[in-house]
Amino acid sequence: MDLERLLTDRLTPAFTAVAGGPVDPVVRRSPRADFQSDAALALARRLGRPPREIAQAVLDRAVLDDVCAAAEVSGPGFVNLTIDDGALAGMVAALAADDRLGVPVTADPETVVVDYSGPNVAKEMHVGHLRSTVIGDAAVRLLGWLGHRVVRVNHLGDWGTPFGMLIAHLVDLGEAEAAQELSIGDLDGFYRAARSKFDADPAFQVRARQRVVALQGGDPETRRLWRLLVEQSQRYFLTVYRLLDVTLTEDDFRGESAYNDRLGAVVGDLDRLGLLTDSAGATCAFPPGFTGRDGAPLPLIVRKGDGGYGYPATDLAALRLRTGELGATRLLYVVGLPQRQHFAMVFAVAGQAGWLRPPARAEHLGFGSVLGPDGRMLRSRAGGSVKLVDLLTEAVARATALARTKNPALDEADAAEIGRAVGIGAIKYADLATDRTRDYVLDWERMLALDGNTAPYLQYAYARTRSVSRRAGTKVGPDARIVLTAPAERALAFELLGFATVVHEVARTAEFHQLAGYLHRLATRFSAFYERCPVLRADGELRASRLLLTDLTGRTLRQGLHLLGIRTVERM
Ligand code: ARG
Repeated sequence: MDLERLLTDRLTPAFTAVAGGPVDPVVRRSPRADFQSDAALALARRLGRPPREIAQAVLDRAVLDDVCAAAEVSGPGFVNLTIDDGALAGMVAALAADDRLGVPVTADPETVVVDYSGPNVAKEMHVGHLRSTVIGDAAVRLLGWLGHRVVRVNHLGDWGTPFGMLIAHLVDLGEAEAAQELSIGDLDGFYRAARSKFDADPAFQVRARQRVVALQGGDPETRRLWRLLVEQSQRYFLTVYRLLDVTLTEDDFRGESAYNDRLGAVVGDLDRLGLLTDSAGATCAFPPGFTGRDGAPLPLIVRKGDGGYGYPATDLAALRLRTGELGATRLLYVVGLPQRQHFAMVFAVAGQAGWLRPPARAEHLGFGSVLGPDGRMLRSRAGGSVKLVDLLTEAVARATALARTKNPALDEADAAEIGRAVGIGAIKYADLATDRTRDYVLDWERMLALDGNTAPYLQYAYARTRSVSRRAGTKVGPDARIVLTAPAERALAFELLGFATVVHEVARTAEFHQLAGYLHRLATRFSAFYERCPVLRADGELRASRLLLTDLTGRTLRQGLHLLGIRTVERM
């Protein structure tokens, strides 16, 4: 049981009785006691009574004896609560006996669609896709662990006019040659070559346009060539996912082309609902509340002047399928902030059409950019965008080298395993540990540092808990009695009890930096505990208790990191 919740449950009826109406006691951790409530201060004005008197009246009514060693009024009218050591120990013991570390499966599971990664066929994955992939993966893991039915959707960009030039270029190169180029992951090279031919050669342009028509018309040969491009790209993306250690699989690709057959019906229905207007040749929806800088209503173009459907129509079709056919009540879109308006308008139109209505809701989980050391958008030395694989390879190489210098006795296989876990973990953690909506600077030194709010620090803390357990020799069962005496020990216990609250909060907000911050705090508390409280040198009951605390910390760190998609290693 989470202590803040428990104390809130105990104080609420007392406050409510004293105030004559519902009051949130706002219980917080406090350096003065263990917990503090300042609700009496806010109530004083409303009730016209001195805050200390209110606080005392609350304490007279609240049932706290079984949890608190002391409950008193302090300062201008705070309620200070000190938890009883025995009660605290009992709660920690319950946590240790629970496989789920005090985090229950949700009482109301729902179907959640997570739309993430979404790279584009025959285009390199860049750092923006890194962010989407890493954040989306964490959402999938966390919500799945809580018992929700999670549907992973990789909204691959596999449709649209660029495929005309890509297919024409493929034909020029010859299939074997093209497959070769794509399979080594030179996606940008392929795309650029097609683009420059298209820009320079009118005859190529004609062939490209014919291919667009043939593709949309379902011409079998053109479709086959298109599929070749899609499959080669998918194969390549899967190698990146494997390297990145995310749960996305082959079955999760549901590209834009998958909605192709539904676009006509979607636009037809919007039209019947009276939601469409012709504007400058295009068919548009004008959802209320969206205006441009000049104050004129903003269009969401569902059908272009040339009759083609685009990105917005596809997203409307996808949304309707997700709420309608998949029965999802929560839709998460992990896509960069530049697409904020696109999603806001898509959601608004879907709402007007009745495809998105409570309890179903959609959230755009936007994110900021990854910046280079110069504080500008991250660029490669040649000035282009940075290839995601290059970034990951570099991270693993750096982390492996670091592991070797720290521990020259490591054998090849261990160094490789640690290098991979730490390198990839560091990249992912640096991303997840910053507020999603902010830009951040990719700083190798900082993200690979063994201290600070980094993956290696947490992985190291975990490995240390494992090494303590190994050295203890005896295995301590989860039924060992917990004895809490030292302040560092109590502080660790409080932190361990806070895991459930953070997990549930992050499931609601998708603010993964809160979970990262929690794990960092936990590791820091463990460090302090380990420094001040002898574990292996303690005796009898105390030794068993401290070993159990160490083990519980390790399990919590591992589970928390696992939810973020970050591996742990048993030794570092
Ligand atoms: N392919 C898009 C891009 O690279 C991302 C797709 C996001 N998902 C969606 N349903 N629109 O920007």
